[in-house]
Amino acid sequence: MTRLLTHPEIEWREDGTPVATAFGDVYFSVEDGLAETRAVFLNGCGLPDAWAGRRQFTVAETGFGTGLNFLALWQLWRQHRPHPQARLSFVSFEGFPLRGEDAARAFETWPELRPLAAQLLARWPGPVRGLRHLTFEEDGIELILHLGDIAQMLPASRFKADAWFLDGFSPAKNSGMWADDMFPLIAARTAPGARAATFTVAGDVRRGLSAAGFDVQKAEGHGRKRQRLEAFFPGSPAPQALPRRVAVLGAGIAGASVACRLGQVGVKAVVFDPSPEPASGASGNPLALMMPRLDAGDTPEARLLIDAYLAAREFYSGRPGAEWTEVRQPPRNETEVKRFEKLLTDPPFPLEDLEAISGGGLLHKRAMILRPRQMVASLLEGAELCLGAMPEVDLAGRRVNGEAFDALVIASGMALRALLPALELTGRQGQVEHLTGAVAAPPSAIASGTYCIATGGQRLWGATFEPAGPGDSAAVSEAARAENLAGLSALWPWWVHEAQKGGAVSRASVRATTPDRLPLIGAAPDEAAITAIWDGRTDRDDWPALPGVHVAGGFGSRGFTWAPWAAGLIAAELCGAPPPADLPSLRAVSPSRQILRRLRKAR
Ligand SMILES: Cc1cc2nc3c(=O)[nH]c(=O)nc-3n(C[C@H](O)[C@H](O)[C@H](O)COP(=O)(O)OP(=O)(O)OC[C@H]3O[C@@H](n4cnc5c(N)ncnc54)[C@H](O)[C@@H]3O)c2cc1C
Ligand SMILES: C[S@@+](CC[C@H](N)C(=O)[O-])C[C@H]1O[C@@H](n2cnc3c(N)ncnc32)[C@H](O)[C@@H]1O
Repeated sequence: MTRLLTHPEIEWREDGTPVATAFGDVYFSVEDGLAETRAVFLNGCGLPDAWAGRRQFTVAETGFGTGLNFLALWQLWRQHRPHPQARLSFVSFEGFPLRGEDAARAFETWPELRPLAAQLLARWPGPVRGLRHLTFEEDGIELILHLGDIAQMLPASRFKADAWFLDGFSPAKNSGMWADDMFPLIAARTAPGARAATFTVAGDVRRGLSAAGFDVQKAEGHGRKRQRLEAFFPGSPAPQALPRRVAVLGAGIAGASVACRLGQVGVKAVVFDPSPEPASGASGNPLALMMPRLDAGDTPEARLLIDAYLAAREFYSGRPGAEWTEVRQPPRNETEVKRFEKLLTDPPFPLEDLEAISGGGLLHKRAMILRPRQMVASLLEGAELCLGAMPEVDLAGRRVNGEAFDALVIASGMALRALLPALELTGRQGQVEHLTGAVAAPPSAIASGTYCIATGGQRLWGATFEPAGPGDSAAVSEAARAENLAGLSALWPWWVHEAQKGGAVSRASVRATTPDRLPLIGAAPDEAAITAIWDGRTDRDDWPALPGVHVAGGFGSRGFTWAPWAAGLIAAELCGAPPPADLPSLRAVSPSRQILRRLRKAR
């Protein structure tokens, strides 16, 4: 199995029907594919009636293919959105993602879908294994794509669907998609009262769905097909209570990203910070770099880092304060030469993103330079700001300065530790040097442990990594300045002369790091309650938490990668939407892991 997924080979019939050569089956029929999608899947799942009165509705699909079903659903949602702020999540699985050109060609058949197709194609994902999260804010739609073999991706996913489109190729040609063990996995991801629909009436599919708890009925088929299936899951949808006002503690990149995502899902964020200006802590450097960390092996942690990086790129793209850049990453030592060699024999990214450069280094072709203060300010635009005074926080009562909120999100950097002493964080001070030069440069960067960034007249280099001062304070030092100059001389010697002329301004701040170098994202754990029920098990995900309190922090040296991904998770958690992350990732970042680790050690 390669890390990169394989694009399908497609044969185009004369009438324009796309056929997947490997499966010998069509993605849809040109003759009436759109009408069939509507009849089999939209109608079959009782849409749009099924989402009437709902603020959050989740549709899941096996087999994303060209995305035709998604576009047809999107069109229906536009026509019948149940509430101006209602949200539609579409979770789909695809093991052989189409090339963008092939998807574009497939959509040519449906002129009425063109405006939506153009939006989807502009952000068509590459063949990178993992989870992609695309949001189409104007219509309150999100697409969560699990890219990889469904046999691996479905068990690792977490969500509850209100409707299922079962759309593998025909069971006779694509048995993997309809294997017996798929049905219980589907049922476990189905909300009470949900419906499933499919074009096939194959006996194995009917029996599989029934055995998994669905009430299965044959319905009149569409076009030349005599019959199709509709399946009903018992129960009624749970009432939805979405939060209205959420307090966010901290106006750095973590808090600002959370506030922005909450705004997108129609929740008012009130942001508190003792500093008079946003981005006054670690997030306030004049420039920052957002680049991937690529591991040589295809581990869950490596995938998590890739998912978060691609989510951040999606999130920042087109916003003020973000620009694309190439980043050269020369190897630090012989071990890294070998690591990069191994990585490039089975790369996780296609050539559009990653190449080898002479000297054994990597070239990241679509990374980003951020202007953090501008970015944070723009992300906070829709939020209510309470800056310049230390907020009085009562976690148990979900109160800040006496006002009760529906939920609280702690995004306060190192101050997270004072609010939740059960969490382990260590402060690591860092210093960068910033210079406004006379000569304009295109966006470019070199990173290899330390980094230097150039864009326009701006230059920034650093950063040091050392214990924080007393009380997690940070102070600029000459020693750090000299260390940064040495780093610059090694990475980008042409600038050293300019840097030495003077005029560079140093800035020091503190990163909040965790012992395992992964962030803390999710529900705030209730240490006493977890300790009381802990029985040595590690396979549960519902550890007791402080009701309505969430955490986004411990971002270490990669805050600009983690923040948008964390914000997506927290917004989903608060609104009962599917998390844009798989189970291994949710467990890896869950704050409760620190308490479980301590309990295991003490045993
Ligand atoms: C020198 C240096 C260079 C870096 N370069 C990069 C880079 O290029 N790319 C990258 O991705 N990452 C970089 N990082 C890491 C990145 O800056 C951090 O991970 C990120 O800024 C953390 O964001 P945050 O919002 O969690 O914390 P912060 O930005 O520190 O924000 C926390 C906020 O909480 C506020 N606060 C404190 N107490 C309270 C309270 N009780 N209630 C409410 N609010 C409170 C603080 O005033 C502060 O504004 C760098 C870090 C350093 C130190
Ligand atoms: C009939 S097509 C789906 C059509 C799609 N819903 C659309 O709107 O165009 C079936 C899809 O299932 C995908 N598929 C087949 N086997 C798979 C597997 N084991 N894991 C993930 N996806 C798979 C195929 O690549 C194909 O895109």
